[in-house]
Amino acid sequence: MKVFVGQPLVEPSTTVLLAGHTVVTGGGNLPRSEWPLLRDADALLPTPRERVTEELLAATPRLAVVASHSVGVDHIDLEACRRRGIRVTNTPDVLTEATADLALALILAVARRIREGEDLARSGTWDGWKPRELLGVSLSGRTLGIYGMGRIGRAVARRGEAFGMRILTFDRDGTEEELDGFLSKLDVLSIHAPLTEETRGRFAEREFLRMKKGTIVVNTARGPIVDEAALVGALSSGHLGGAGLDVHAKEPAIHPGLLAFSNVVLLPHLGSATFETRLAMARLACEEIVRFARGEPPLHPVP
Ligand code: DGY
Repeated sequence: MKVFVGQPLVEPSTTVLLAGHTVVTGGGNLPRSEWPLLRDADALLPTPRERVTEELLAATPRLAVVASHSVGVDHIDLEACRRRGIRVTNTPDVLTEATADLALALILAVARRIREGEDLARSGTWDGWKPRELLGVSLSGRTLGIYGMGRIGRAVARRGEAFGMRILTFDRDGTEEELDGFLSKLDVLSIHAPLTEETRGRFAEREFLRMKKGTIVVNTARGPIVDEAALVGALSSGHLGGAGLDVHAKEPAIHPGLLAFSNVVLLPHLGSATFETRLAMARLACEEIVRFARGEPPLHPVP
């Protein structure tokens, strides 16, 4: 089989598992200049950065399997794949703990003002310990709200409990009224839902206003779930206490309005970025292609 891999992966993955197949690796982002390389590809291994659109599929008539190097599949036109009978798989489970760790890191970073503290420590202007310097908020005794109780949401809830937090959860099928009640009780909101038409822009001005003054918003799921302009507004007014964002609405662009806030921690989509996790994701995606080639059922089919 010919396999097109969107961009270089952590190895050994393709080199071992796809040995015996023809592997062509792109430079990331699947620019049109790379499309001719996919014309005779049987399998595509995209990361969240490579969009699998109807137009791309039309240019890849042989494609039979798309094995995504991600748990999220919003970069893939699933309906178009379905129509063409293309098998789609993803990589759940292996990234749960790493992503939950990063969500906790963001919660701590914002609550304990790590960014400002680091700036001060490096500035050369720090003149010693002060009882009133850079006071944050204690997590213990605070309420952590998890929006989306899938694998990662549950893993973040476990971590929150270990920090002495009270956990409230909201699943996506709750009513607007239930959502309002949930939001009004939180000190920290951590978002763990997939990006779908119903979650796009789910957190906007209305939802931020339902939260208590000082609430911290953390997003390690998908950027477009948060209306970034509304978030900037809620931070500017001082209503929200801060934000920790690993994902962004228009990646790789970062909303310019967010850059000015010292109580906002911004990361470049690093949720699953540990060596072990990225290797496991790469190997799982390769394994799905090998299973397809052998005529075996997928481990993680995306319906
Ligand atoms: C995913 O897998 O969907 C993450 O966003 C990238 O690790």
